[in-house]
Amino acid sequence: MHQRLQIRPPRFWTVILLLGLGLLIFALASFSSPAQAAPIIQTDKPSDDFCLACHQQEGLDIKLGSESLPVTINPIQFGLSVHSEEGIACVDCHANISEYPHPDVKEKTIREFSISLADTCTECHEEQSTKAHDSVHQTAFDAGNENAPLCSDCHNPHTQPRIIGQESGLLTIAARKDVPATCAQCHTETYGQYKNSVHGAALADGNTDVPTCTDCHGVHNIDDPTTASFRNNSPALCADCHDDPAIMDKYGLSTKVTETYLADFHGTTVTLFEQQFPGQETNMAVCSDCHGVHDVAKVDTAETGIALGENLLVKCQHCHPDATANFSAAWMGHSEPSPEHYPIVYYVDLFYKFFIPAVIGGMIFFILTDIYRRFINRAKGAKHS
Ligand code: HEC
Ligand code: HEC
Ligand code: HEC
Ligand code: HEC
Ligand code: HEC
Ligand code: HEC
Ligand code: HEC
Ligand code: HEC
Ligand code: HEC
Repeated sequence: MHQRLQIRPPRFWTVILLLGLGLLIFALASFSSPAQAAPIIQTDKPSDDFCLACHQQEGLDIKLGSESLPVTINPIQFGLSVHSEEGIACVDCHANISEYPHPDVKEKTIREFSISLADTCTECHEEQSTKAHDSVHQTAFDAGNENAPLCSDCHNPHTQPRIIGQESGLLTIAARKDVPATCAQCHTETYGQYKNSVHGAALADGNTDVPTCTDCHGVHNIDDPTTASFRNNSPALCADCHDDPAIMDKYGLSTKVTETYLADFHGTTVTLFEQQFPGQETNMAVCSDCHGVHDVAKVDTAETGIALGENLLVKCQHCHPDATANFSAAWMGHSEPSPEHYPIVYYVDLFYKFFIPAVIGGMIFFILTDIYRRFINRAKGAKHS
C-alpha cells in the first residue's frame, strides 16, 4: 500500500504531461485549417488513412472559379466500395497527390475538373474504355457537348458497389433495377415515359424479365438509335424476349408475335427490304410504330390499348393517311385465324385443308380404280382369247 503511494506521484504527472501534449497536438491538427498547416509529407506510398484523416472532415471544399466543390469523402462508404474492397488505394487513382498542400488545380469549373480525371479508369478497365470510344456519348463529347457522360457520371468511384455477381458473372438484380435511374440523370423525358410503360413499371416491381435501357441500347458502346439500320433491326430486339417461351409463358403472352409480324405484309417487306437495301430506312411499320418504344403499354389497357380499333387506327394513319375504321379492322394483327378470331378466314383455311386433299385424293383413287379395272379386263380378255 505505502510503497505504491510513494511511487505514484511521478508516474501520475508523466501521464498528465503526455496527455496534455497529446491533446495539444490533436487540437493543433484538428483546429488549424489544413491549408495553413506546414507541409505534411508521407515518405512511403500514402495510406488511405493518411488521406482520410483530412478528407473525412465535413465542410471541406475547393474553389474552382466561382464554383465550390466539396472534397469530403465518407470513409464508411468508401470502405464498402468495390475499389476499397479490392485494395485499390486513393493514390492508385490520384497518382498526382502524395502530400499536402496538393499540386495546384488549374480547372475553373467542376465539370472541367471531372473531365481532367476522366482517363483515370482506363488503366484498369481497358475493355469498357475501348468500347466507350465508339459510343454516341463519346461522339457527342467530341462534338463539344461537355454534358455527355464520363465514367464517373455513371459510376461514383468512391462509392461504386460491386455490380457483377462474383459467382454468376452476371449483373446483379439490384444493379439491373438501378440502370434506368443512372440514365435518368440526363434523359429525364425518356425515363419519364419508360417508368410508366409495361416494361418500366414491371422493373420497378422487381421483375427482371423486362428490358432496361441497356438491354436495347447497350452500355459502353451505345449506337445511334436514329439510324436506318437501328430501325430495321429493332424488331429483332423485341423478338429476343417475345419469341422466348421461357419468358413469355409466365405472362400468358403469345410467342408468335414476330412470326405473325413477319408473315404480315409489313414484316415480309421490311425483311426483304433489309436484304436488298441494307443501309436504307424502311418506311414500313416496325413493332414500335404500333406499340411505341419507351412507352410500350399493355395492348388491352382501357383507354389507350391498341387492341381497340380506334387506337390502332391512329397508328395506321401515320402512314396510311386515308385509312378509315374498316382499314385497321380488316387487319388480322398478330392473331392466327381460329374459330374465335377471324372465323371466316379460319373456316376457309380449314375448308381448303380438307377440300384440296379430298379432291386430289379422290382423283388418285379414281385413276387407281380405273387402272385396276383395265388390268382385270385385259387379263380377262387374254384368258378368253
Ligand atoms: C492535411 C489534410 C489533407 C490531407 C492529408 C490530404 N488532403 Fe486532399 N485536400 C485537402 C483539402 C483541404 C483540399 C481542398 C483544396 C485544397 O485546400 O487544396 C483537398 C483537395 C483534394 C482533392 C481535390 C483537389 C485536388 O487537389 O485535386 C483531391 C483529389 C484530394 N484532396 C485527394 C487527396 C488524396 C488522394 C490524399 C492522400 C494522398 C489527400 N488528398 C490528402 C486536405 C488534405
Ligand atoms: C477508383 C479510382 C478512385 C479512387 C480509389 C479514389 N478516387 Fe477520388 N476521385 C476519382 C475520380 C475519377 C474523381 C473525379 C470524379 C468527379 O469529379 O466526377 C475523384 C474525385 C475526388 C475528389 C474531389 C471531390 C469529388 O468527390 O469529386 C476528392 C477529394 C477525392 N477524389 C479524394 C479521394 C480520396 C481521399 C480517396 C481515398 C479514400 C479517393 N479519392 C479514392 C477517382 C478515385
Ligand atoms: C487501379 C485499378 C483500378 C482503377 C484505376 C479503377 N478501377 Fe474500377 N475496379 C478495379 C477492380 C480490381 C475492380 C473489381 C472487379 C474487377 O476485377 O473488375 C473494379 C470494379 C469496378 C466496377 C464494378 C465492376 C464489378 O465487377 O462489379 C466498376 C463499375 C468500376 N470498377 C468502375 C471504375 C471507374 C468508373 C473507374 C475510374 C473512375 C475505375 N473503376 C478505376 C480496379 C480499378
Ligand atoms: C452512361 C452511363 C455509363 C457510363 C458513361 C459508363 N458506364 Fe460502366 N456501366 C454502366 C451500367 C448501367 C453498367 C451495368 C451493366 C449493364 O447494364 O449491362 C455498367 C457496367 C460497368 C462495369 C462492370 C462490367 C461490365 O462491363 O458490365 C465496369 C467495370 C464499368 N461499367 C466501367 C466503366 C468505365 C471504366 C467507364 C468509362 C470508360 C464506364 N463504365 C462508363 C453505365 C455506364
Ligand atoms: C451525364 C448525362 C448523361 C447520362 C448519365 C446518360 N446520357 Fe445518354 N446522352 C447524353 C448526351 C449529352 C447525349 C447527346 C445529346 C443528345 O442527343 O441528347 C446523349 C445521347 C444518348 C443517346 C443517343 C440519342 C440520339 O438522339 O441520338 C442514347 C441512345 C443515350 N444517350 C442513351 C443513354 C443510356 C442508355 C444511358 C444510361 C445507361 C445514358 N444515355 C446516360 C447524356 C447522358
Ligand atoms: C425495348 C427497347 C428499348 C428500351 C427498354 C429503351 N429504349 Fe431507348 N430506344 C429504343 C429504340 C427502338 C429507339 C429508336 C426510336 C425511334 O425509332 O423513334 C430508342 C431511342 C432512344 C433515344 C433517342 C431518341 C428518343 O426517342 O429520345 C434515347 C435518348 C433513348 N432511347 C434512351 C433510352 C433510355 C434512357 C432508356 C431507359 C430509361 C431507354 N432508351 C430504354 C429502344 C429502347
Ligand atoms: C401494324 C401494327 C403492329 C405491329 C407492326 C406490331 N404489332 Fe404487336 N400488336 C398489335 C395489335 C393491334 C395487338 C393487339 C391485338 C393482337 O394481339 O393482334 C398487338 C399485340 C401484341 C402483343 C400482345 C400479345 C398477347 O399475347 O396479348 C405483343 C407482345 C406484341 N404485339 C408485340 C409485337 C412485336 C414484338 C412486334 C414486332 C415484331 C409487333 N408487336 C408488331 C399491333 C402491331
Ligand atoms: C428483355 C426482354 C424484353 C424485351 C427486349 C422486350 N420486351 Fe416487351 N415485355 C417483356 C415482358 C417480360 C413483358 C410482360 C411484362 C408484364 O406483363 O409484367 C412484356 C410486355 C410487353 C407488352 C405488353 C403485352 C400485354 O398486352 O400484356 C408489349 C406490347 C411489349 N412487351 C412490346 C415490346 C416491344 C414492341 C419491344 C421492342 C421494342 C419489347 N416488348 C421488348 C419483355 C421484353
Ligand atoms: C410506319 C408506317 C406504317 C404504318 C404505321 C402502317 N403501315 Fe401499312 N404499309 C406501310 C407501307 C410503306 C406499305 C407499302 C405500301 C406500298 O408499297 O404501296 C404498307 C402496306 C400496307 C398494306 C398492304 C396494302 C396496301 O395498302 O398497299 C396493308 C393492308 C397495310 N399496310 C395495313 C396497315 C394497317 C392496318 C396499319 C395499322 C395497324 C398499318 N398498315 C400501319 C407503312 C405503314
